[in-house]
Amino acid sequence: MRLLVTGAAGFIGSNLIHLLRHERSEWSIRVLDSLTYAGHAGNLEPHLGDQSVELIVGDVANTADVNRAVEGVDAILHLAAESHVDRSILGSAAFVQTNVVGTHRLLEAARKSGLPMIIISTDEVYGDLGPKDPAFTEQHPIKPSSPYSASKAAADHFGLSFVRTYDQDVRITRCCNNYGPRQFPEKLIPFMIGQILQGAPCPMYGDGQQVRDWIHVDDHNRAVLAVLEKGEAGEVYNIGAREELTNLQVVEQLGLALERTVEIEFVADRPGHDRRYAVNPAKIERDLHWQPTVDWKTGLSSTVQWYLDNSEWIESIKSGAYKSYLKSNYGHR
Ligand code: NAD
Ligand code: DAU
Repeated sequence: MRLLVTGAAGFIGSNLIHLLRHERSEWSIRVLDSLTYAGHAGNLEPHLGDQSVELIVGDVANTADVNRAVEGVDAILHLAAESHVDRSILGSAAFVQTNVVGTHRLLEAARKSGLPMIIISTDEVYGDLGPKDPAFTEQHPIKPSSPYSASKAAADHFGLSFVRTYDQDVRITRCCNNYGPRQFPEKLIPFMIGQILQGAPCPMYGDGQQVRDWIHVDDHNRAVLAVLEKGEAGEVYNIGAREELTNLQVVEQLGLALERTVEIEFVADRPGHDRRYAVNPAKIERDLHWQPTVDWKTGLSSTVQWYLDNSEWIESIKSGAYKSYLKSNYGHR
């Protein structure tokens, strides 16, 4: 298998490459990544160094970059995205460009070359749930709340329209919140680990009772592999681990794992904040025989340990731009 993975210098993609090198070592892998603030070539080491992975630094919204990247591959896993809800609230133009235009460029290239393409989407396209609502199935209406989730929903709609119009092999996965190594420290878990270790307050948006469904990144990536190897063209697969926790519970459990006191500071809520996500993964469990294997307690403990052991990784990505993002997002709260 010759695989193109977009966005693999980021969190989920880099974990996917490490998994593939371990479990599908005979595959040849090409990465297309523009190395935004969230993408780091170092996340792909040692595989770039040993030349088992080829990195093309390029933009998914650029036709020439995309055409070069699809040349000679058998399938595309499309992860590249602007992925942070808070940044999409501060400004959404980059989300339209990468998530909508970029996905469209890749769909066109996949169509011309007759390649299967898997779009790595998100449970956020479904909007949010009330406390007693059943978890999202693949039939749930698409009702995005944030500019980020609207851009992901638009990409999904383009993908499914290409299935219907051109009979193209496009598959879509919609996963819940991931945690694990190498997550950029603007997302809840790595950000709060940093705050707790510095003895700084943990800013909880609103009342902290929002619920997220958490999955270890390796379980998500194994589900994506199952969709690549056993999934059907035109199908949507929800991915989740049935691990619902409030944000306050997550942060309290981080304090316990780090053996540090946690100081919670309730701050102004995220505009349009989704209250609860919960994913029903029955379809992928039944049809593709995938199941999550990492329980929350074990996964959280190994994740916390990774951040403790890799403080130099965290320091290396805290650029001036990171500090100005923190000011824009938290300064006024
Ligand atoms: P991330 O922000 O950590 O990484 C995104 C990667 O995409 C980075 O390497 C970045 O450089 C690259 N990229 C951004 N714009 C690009 C462009 N125009 N051209 C080429 N590369 C570009 O994101 P992540 O958390 O690893 O998420 C990966 C995918 O999974 C995204 O599509 C996201 O929507 C989806 N997803 C994420 C989660 C989660 O909990 N993190 C859950 C469900 C789905
Ligand atoms: O559900 C899947 C989605 O999960 C992915 O599609 C997104 O790419 C990914 O970023 C994630 O989105 P969330 O908005 O759920 O993740 P985030 O880590 O930004 O926030 C998780 C929750 O924690 C959310 O309810 C907001 C809250 N939060 C977050 C931060 C950074 C706070 O209360 N304070 C904070 O400082």
